[in-house]
Amino acid sequence: MNKFFVSTPIYYVNDKPHLGHAYTTLCADVLARWHSQNGNQVFFLTGTDEHGVKVQESAIKAGLEPLEFANQNARRFQKAWINLGIGYSYFIRTTNPQHEAVVSNFLQKVYDKGYIYQGQYEGLYCVGCEKFLQEDDLVNGKCPLHPNQEPIQQKETNYFFKLSDFGDKLLNALTKGEYQVIPDGRKNEVVGKIKKGLQDVSISRAGVSWGVPVPWDRTQTIYVWVDALINYYSATQFVEAGKGFWPANLHLMAKDILWFHAVIWPALLMAAELDLPRTVAAHGFFTIDGQKMSKSLGNVIDPNDLVKQFGAEATRYLIMVEVPFISDGDVSLSRFQQRYQSDLANGLGNCLSRVTNMMEKYFDDKYNKDLAYQFELVTENAIADSIKNLRFSESLDYIMSEIKKIDKEIDAHKPWQMVKEAKLLDVKLLLIDWVRRLTRIGQLLQPFMPQTSEKILAVLTAEKIVKTEALFPRLDI
Ligand code: MSP
Repeated sequence: MNKFFVSTPIYYVNDKPHLGHAYTTLCADVLARWHSQNGNQVFFLTGTDEHGVKVQESAIKAGLEPLEFANQNARRFQKAWINLGIGYSYFIRTTNPQHEAVVSNFLQKVYDKGYIYQGQYEGLYCVGCEKFLQEDDLVNGKCPLHPNQEPIQQKETNYFFKLSDFGDKLLNALTKGEYQVIPDGRKNEVVGKIKKGLQDVSISRAGVSWGVPVPWDRTQTIYVWVDALINYYSATQFVEAGKGFWPANLHLMAKDILWFHAVIWPALLMAAELDLPRTVAAHGFFTIDGQKMSKSLGNVIDPNDLVKQFGAEATRYLIMVEVPFISDGDVSLSRFQQRYQSDLANGLGNCLSRVTNMMEKYFDDKYNKDLAYQFELVTENAIADSIKNLRFSESLDYIMSEIKKIDKEIDAHKPWQMVKEAKLLDVKLLLIDWVRRLTRIGQLLQPFMPQTSEKILAVLTAEKIVKTEALFPRLDI
């Protein structure tokens, strides 16, 4: 049995879950389910990032203590994931004292090895990103991701991590495949930046009280990003289900935070003499109807609203099929609706109704329930490979094309006419073939739409197959 540990970023607890968070979390969920289905032992970790200036300020605005505020908002993420049928193994919160203890020990170890020193930090800080900005990060003097926020001028005594010691080591590890960054385009960006030379990074804050204290100097707190990255490791230390799972197989995220995961995190792990994650994978950013998704534009899509409109299973399908992993993409509600109609209502759901309806009508004797079926090897492999390589929409396209093939065959054979021509036996043979193929489709859809898959398999393996209710009622658009 192989182990598979997949993680999502831990999301800032001051925000509400939106489609961006939902996408990464769904990718992880599909992979987790696919690996369990294929006999692997899976640990799927997600959670919330709860320390730092941003959360502290949001709590003050909400008139709450930071922890109370975090408690409320962490619950929103948990609820959203339940609504979407996300089956994480553990939901980590960085305010968990057990996590804090691991963070503290981790950093102490790096300090003891001589990779941390005290220095003077002077420069700009973006609260939105919780990140120190370099000159070349700035666009018109502002952080490009937060153009409405003024970067803050910081001048304080901090502790620094000797990231500059790790450039060659990281390049070496990447070349030797000790860890990999995907996709290639983004790996090349990372490698290019490492080659330009790495600068040491500040890993503590003097003026921020909402954080884990620096173990050897309690007047400072640990920089929120360091605290957050360590969650991946800490969950394998204090969470029962996570024990034995370090190193992670796959850290998933969007490109905005790749640098932290592909450079700073592996360097910290090297400094602490721990194994590196096997793969760090970054997907693109998507826009809504061609525009950046943002509160000020009022176009933020709440996954809970999609679930209300389409149901959880269809929402999972729509997000996975419409958002490409590798590139930036654009989503729109009207495309979601069209897809729902074509792929689910008129596609999968209708095909299942047609076949089960004919089974009910023409197949009154018991049928041999040996439904084991595999598509041609090329198809089976293409579906598995595209999931493994994070090309989720591609694997769904393959599955949907198998449904279309069945529909076409039904249209071509017209079983209802064959019955009139007294070719009942031929009809039964065709029906059994379609039932077996739909059973396989049900299995292949399991990671994407677990409940739909269960329903399909229950209907098709019943003693007597009867016409199903529409799995996906048509939308009135
Ligand atoms: N707290 C940090 C992560 C720490 S991980 C050790 C953080 N949180 S976040 O709430 O801002 O989440 C960022 C992540 O949300 C992205 O990496 C991505 O997974 C997801 N997305 C947010 N907006 C997105 C889009 N518009 N498009 C795609 N994904 C997006 O950063």
